[in-house]
Amino acid sequence: MKERNSDTEIKKLHLDFENLDKLNYLTKRLQSVIMAAENEIEFFANISNLFMDECGYKFANIKIIGEESKKEGKESAKIENFQLKKNFESNFSVPILYGSSRMGTLNLYSDRKNAFKKDERNILEKLAGDIAYGFYILRLKKERDKALKSHEEALLNTIKAFVTTMRKRDPYTAGHQQRVTELALAIGDKMGLDKNCIEGLRIGAMIHDIGKINIPGEILNRPGKITRHEFEIIKPHSQLGHEIIEGLNFPWPVGKMILQHHERIDGTGYPKGLKGDEIITEAKIIAVADVVEAISSHRPYRVALGIQAALTEIKNRKGSSFDSQIVDICVELFEKQEFHWENSHSFLENITA
Ligand SMILES: [Fe+2]
Repeated sequence: MKERNSDTEIKKLHLDFENLDKLNYLTKRLQSVIMAAENEIEFFANISNLFMDECGYKFANIKIIGEESKKEGKESAKIENFQLKKNFESNFSVPILYGSSRMGTLNLYSDRKNAFKKDERNILEKLAGDIAYGFYILRLKKERDKALKSHEEALLNTIKAFVTTMRKRDPYTAGHQQRVTELALAIGDKMGLDKNCIEGLRIGAMIHDIGKINIPGEILNRPGKITRHEFEIIKPHSQLGHEIIEGLNFPWPVGKMILQHHERIDGTGYPKGLKGDEIITEAKIIAVADVVEAISSHRPYRVALGIQAALTEIKNRKGSSFDSQIVDICVELFEKQEFHWENSHSFLENITA
């Protein structure tokens, strides 16, 4: 993208406005400032600055019809005062039209007499068309963001309902999911996963055992070792969890995280016996955090075995069951005391943190 013109170029642009090359240049500059704008205020400011800095106009502003009308009123009063003070010699207002609907007006002020000749006005009308298009796109983006936000809020409320149900029915699993989430996020963070990926990991880890909702409480909470038969009943929980959240349309691969959290990179896991890169990174992280939490914590059927036993287990299965990099990072987190479980029960609050 070309940077701001030198003073000489600005002057030329002003004196020879109808030149096609300069019009092309200005159109490109206009497009780039339109694309760069994040919101309407920035959009108006960028365009006004472009007309003042690069076209040599003394003052420029955009008045939009509709929701900005209150602000426009104040803005308009400011301009009138400014105009009186600065003694503009000429001005020109261009309607900003999208199709047949008028979106607003581009107002330009010059310190030259009769600055806005026919050719210049024609060019400004063309540029106003680009502004209208840019403004239309910006409004579409705003509506899309609003819809996405409300969709995300609805999803988070669904997750909260899942977590609350789990907490009441099976406090062990609910606590386990919370602690797995804390460790998984620490691993993901140390791996350098981006913010969006971390957010997805948080949701996936928080409900990775949601499929256990279907397993009788007597099996999940009874003291004593799980029998072979009981294990066969527990095993489908990753598949069932995937089915429960199917259709929720998460912006992250939450379904795969749930479905794959018992897969192992050597293909010995379940339900599908996936190998290596067939398993997504988030599921590999949850798998390690899941095992470490399960071994180190108290369970209805045994006392806690402690973190050292858990770390020995994942080190022994590094590169076979578990991803080597994830194991190394997890071990380092504990050995360097960079991670510890929070012991809090505020996982509902954590959802929206
Ligand atoms: Fe599980």
